[in-house]
Parts: sequence; structure tokens; C-alpha cells
Amino acid sequence: MLIDLRSDTVTRPTKGMLEAMFAAKVGDDVFGEDPTVTELEERTAAMFGKEAGLFCPSGTMTNEIAAKVHALPGEEVILHKLSHLYYYEGGGLMSNSGLSVCLLGGERGMITAQDVLDHINPDDLHRPRTAMVEVENTMNKGGGAVYENGVLAEISEVCRLNGLKYHLDGARIFNALAVTGQTAAQCGSMFDSISVCFSKGLGAPVGSVLLGKREFIRKAKRVRKVFGGGMRQAGYLAAAGIYALDHHIERLKEDHKRAMILADTLNALPWVDEVLPVETNILIFRVKAPLTAAAVNSELSAKGLLAIAFDKQSIRFVTHLDFTDEMLGRACDILRKGF
Ligand SMILES: Cc1ncc(COP(=O)(O)O)c(C=O)c1O
Repeated sequence: MLIDLRSDTVTRPTKGMLEAMFAAKVGDDVFGEDPTVTELEERTAAMFGKEAGLFCPSGTMTNEIAAKVHALPGEEVILHKLSHLYYYEGGGLMSNSGLSVCLLGGERGMITAQDVLDHINPDDLHRPRTAMVEVENTMNKGGGAVYENGVLAEISEVCRLNGLKYHLDGARIFNALAVTGQTAAQCGSMFDSISVCFSKGLGAPVGSVLLGKREFIRKAKRVRKVFGGGMRQAGYLAAAGIYALDHHIERLKEDHKRAMILADTLNALPWVDEVLPVETNILIFRVKAPLTAAAVNSELSAKGLLAIAFDKQSIRFVTHLDFTDEMLGRACDILRKGF
């Protein structure tokens, strides 16, 4: 059986999750009549201490809606150059919302309050007005890096003092909370809006919830409709999210432990140049030249271990719900055999 570590999005719903989906009470959610969607939105909002939530088909849509509601065309978003919102959303900030970006660097995909402060544009008609700051936690391109709570709080304060909206791409926020020990409510208090994904580490097939104040979500709902994201009997999908909240948060630490064991294995191998620090379920490592990531990746895949070549020398593994200890043992054996 293939070992698929390309992403934590490759998981299939468990039996329990499928049963919950089958049993869901549904209605037409565009009419606001799906009780299961409403329950997921309200539960997620309550967890993060937010007034309201909006169920959407994807994390891309929740991020894009947040930007469109927070900023006007011609305004600017400050974010890391490797953030999903900039790097992996097909230029949506520009094409969906007409926004300018101010791209920051920073260790493992993370920015600091000082970076933000240094890049807020002055009130000068030649410059785009800075409207929003975005952070991603955990940070995918940074190897699942987790922000220190203090750093996020400092950025929050800079946003508050300068009238900027603060959005969290929390596609893997529960992985971050499992490491920092912060509660969802403490996390939520720092942000104007949060995107939470159910289809990553939480193992649901589809769905993200956007969180914020009631008025923000009212506007977001209109944008969701325009983006074609209004769904009808979506409760079948929302039921998977509710099941994930109940059953798949505590277990995320297992994914982190398995990623660390993979990292220990890789660290001892002569063909591996460097393994980036592993904090959560994402592991990025560099292969030694003349090996290339593409060549190693295709050999791994021929041996039944699927990964993603991230750049010329780097490969990414992501551990998840469908990656068992037995698979971990086989994956380590494949890696030890080398090239
Ligand atoms: C950090 C991050 N944000 C957002 C997304 C977008 O989620 P979706 O694939 O549901 O659009 C992803 C997808 O993997 C992600 O890794």
C-alpha cells in the first residue's frame, strides 16, 4: 500500500466521520436553513471567541473573502512572500480584490511586529494605503513553523494602533495550538478574522470556516455568494467538520511525533544535507547535490513513498490521520535504503 505524505489533505473520511455525514440534518444553506452548517459555524466561532462564522468550500476562499472584506481596491496587504495567500492563491488578492501587496521576508515564513511597523505606508497620496496584515500559523512553506504567541500579540498591537485589519490563515491552527498550549479563545482574541480549515490535519473531506465579528461575516456572506461559494445541503460536509472538532484535535500530537521520528531518521542519513526544524506535521529536508529533489522524489515514489519536491533540493513530507505507525516503519526503511 502506498504511503502518501504529499499533504495532510489526502486523508479519506473515517467510518465514524462518514456515519456522522450520513446522519446530518440538512437544509438549503443559501437560505440559511441548514442546521448542521449553522452548528459548525457557531461552534467554531464560540471556540475562538468570535461572534460569527461562515462555512466555505475551501481555505483559499475564506482567505480571499477576508481580504476582499477588509481592504478596498488599491489598498495594500502586508504578508510574508511565502504565505499561502500570496504564493499559492493564483494572484487572487489582485484579481479578486484589486489589492497591492507588501511582501516581507523572515525566518521560516514568519514575520515580526517590527517588520510590519517598518512597512506601513505613510499617509501619502503616492502610496497605497496599508489596510491589512496577514499571518499563517502553522506556516506551510516554513516547514510547519509555529509562531510564538508573543510575536502574534505584538503584531496584533501594531495593527490595533495603526488601524490595520489582522487576518490569520489558520489552515493548520489546531496543529499550532497543540504545540503552544494556547487556547483557541486566546488565539482568537488577537485577530479580526481567522480562516480555519477542516480538510487538512483534521481529516474532513471539504470545508473551512471564516470567523469574525457579525458585521464582517454579513459582508463575507455576500462575497461568498459572488465567488460561487454558496452551497445548498452543505450540512453533509459540515457534519464532517463537527466530527473532526470532536474526534481529531487531540490526536494531532501523534502526527507531530511521527514527523519528528521521520526527521530523526533523515538526520542520520548520508544523502540528506539538512532537515529543517520540525515542530508540527510538516517536514522539509534538503538532499545533497548532485542528487536533486525531483530525482529523489521520483525514486521514492517508485518505492511507494509519495512526497512533494518543494524546490530544486528540498522535499516536503506531511504526516496525517491516515499515516500509521506501520507506515512510519516502512517509510523509515525506504529512506534508510538510500540511493
Ligand atoms: C496554509 C494554507 N492556507 C490555505 C490553504 C488553502 O486551502 P484549500 O486547499 O482548502 O483552498 C492551504 C492548502 O493547503 C494551506 O496550506
